Amino acid sequence: MKNLAVLTSGGDSPGMNACIRAIVRSANHKNINTFGIQYGYDGLINNNIKILLPEEVSNTIHIGGTILKSARSEEFYSKKGREKAYQNLKMNNIDGMIVLGGDGSLTGAKIFGDEFKFNIIGIPCTIDNDIYGTDYSIGFATARETIVNSIDKIRDTAASHERIFIVEVMGRESGYLALESGVASGAELILIPENKNSMTDVINKLKKINNKKKSVIIVYAEGCKFGSLNELSKKIKDSISNSNVRFSILGHIQRGGIPSPSDRVLASILGYESINQITKGITNKMIGIKNQKPILINLNDAISKKKKVDLSLIDISNIISKY
Ligand code: F6P
Repeated sequence: MKNLAVLTSGGDSPGMNACIRAIVRSANHKNINTFGIQYGYDGLINNNIKILLPEEVSNTIHIGGTILKSARSEEFYSKKGREKAYQNLKMNNIDGMIVLGGDGSLTGAKIFGDEFKFNIIGIPCTIDNDIYGTDYSIGFATARETIVNSIDKIRDTAASHERIFIVEVMGRESGYLALESGVASGAELILIPENKNSMTDVINKLKKINNKKKSVIIVYAEGCKFGSLNELSKKIKDSISNSNVRFSILGHIQRGGIPSPSDRVLASILGYESINQITKGITNKMIGIKNQKPILINLNDAISKKKKVDLSLIDISNIISKY
């Protein structure tokens, strides 16, 4: 193996740069060139590929986002798009590729690897932490910290004005990010899609909490299906007399910022390990982390099986967030 490529795809996540750095430097250690593909799979299709020298990743370990840029590629869904991508890899004499991304990006990697028998390794990078087979994905820890810092600030206003605050957190269909952020910020109520609650349940729970505590933080995972936050706030106002309700959608601040030390360590381990494995001939796998040790997961399992959230955390939170 002489030439490898790396790309970042889908939603960026803090720690991607630390991972790219680890890949480039580990490959260089084995006398392998790394080619950086710009703009994810779109860049692969458009031959936006250039060599990434070990010195070019200096001073990037602490930077959020991705120096390779990212995209959600429509064209890669088509066989024609993937064929172009393959031809570009061949033209550049590239014999393997490391894909950094979430669910959709790893699905693309699996299809491409199967279709062209191309050496491919995936690395889970998403703030959602919804990838099966790995305890953590790169970016999750930083996003959780950003959310907790934001909720700590919102809590000051909630407490001072005795308000009920609904804070919407990202995570797509998964409540993982919301659940851990909710516990860490001492939220009085955590609503996630995995824990089915009816609107009546929510109102009843809130009434109980509000009897004793006037300031309440509700962490609301974006995958929950209670309509708009405007509607939910109105329902709460109508059902709880004299309640003072506000909502806040944290949005993309959750995806950006300086990667936390634990994300940098995770990114370094997974980046290094991807080179270790691909040079041994391992392909069609994702490198994840289990009990603090890197592990290999079939790409097929990573994309088709569902990562479960630990619902016992909801029970713990229900007990310790109120009196
Ligand atoms: O998958 C990461 C994520 O940030 C999700 O939590 C969120 O639902 C989605 O991406 C937002 O995507 P976009 O930035 O394309 O709007």
